[in-house]
Amino acid sequence: VSHFPEELKNGNASIKITDTRLEDKGNYTCIFPNTQSGDIRFHIELAVGAAEPSVTNLDETNDWALLKCVVKGASPKPTVEWWDSNNQTIPSEEPQVSKKGERFYVTLKTNVTKTDRYHCVATQKEIWHQAHTEINVRLNVPEPNTGWKIVAGVAVGVAVVLAGILSWCYIKNKKKRQQGETEIPLSRETETQR
Ligand SMILES: *[C@@H]1O[C@H](CO)[C@@H](O)[C@H](O)[C@H]1NC(C)=O
Ligand SMILES: *[C@@H]1O[C@H](CO)[C@@H](O)[C@H](O)[C@H]1NC(C)=O
Ligand SMILES: *[C@@H]1O[C@H](CO)[C@@H](O)[C@H](O)[C@H]1NC(C)=O
Repeated sequence: VSHFPEELKNGNASIKITDTRLEDKGNYTCIFPNTQSGDIRFHIELAVGAAEPSVTNLDETNDWALLKCVVKGASPKPTVEWWDSNNQTIPSEEPQVSKKGERFYVTLKTNVTKTDRYHCVATQKEIWHQAHTEINVRLNVPEPNTGWKIVAGVAVGVAVVLAGILSWCYIKNKKKRQQGETEIPLSRETETQR
């Protein structure tokens, strides 16, 4: 903790706490003594929190990615969420929470199926603190394109109908030829020619 005596003449009584720890949180009082009406006291509450999410891509295929967010040693207890690039909360697995002393360890996994920029957000309402970490996911899913699907569907349909017509024509032709054969016995003709 450092203080700045040279600032006192300016009416500035400040302290600076570096490398803050959870133990530093609480109520601080600044006292201006010896005024005519007695001491003047100022109170301030220092909130100290820690909640820095770290994110990893655990596993990935062409159409999904399993993301993990870990918030270590947070205090007070944070709520942890996965958000998409529109800041909408996305469904996640149940968070795994453990506690050591005053500190909380939270792990939250989510299975995403869209290319996007995802945020893991740790919120500590009590101290008005929010921290987030981003991760980009690029999947190889073709964009859902209904137009393309309709074209493909129609093409397959046309192909099936065409195949039907063709095989029907073929069978009819074959039957005709077989009937023709009995009327004009081509095979016997060729035999006699031999
Ligand atoms: C008081 O002094 C501290 C330390 O030098 C400085 O950081 C701060 O800005 C000062 N505050 C004002 C109101 O001048
Ligand atoms: C999402 O929230 C962050 C701050 O948390 C903000 O900077 C960003 O603009 C927001 N994005 C959208 C799409 O609302
Ligand atoms: C993620 O979701 C996809 C489709 O919803 C599923 O096929 C896949 O098995 C899931 N992956 C994991 C690791 O749960």
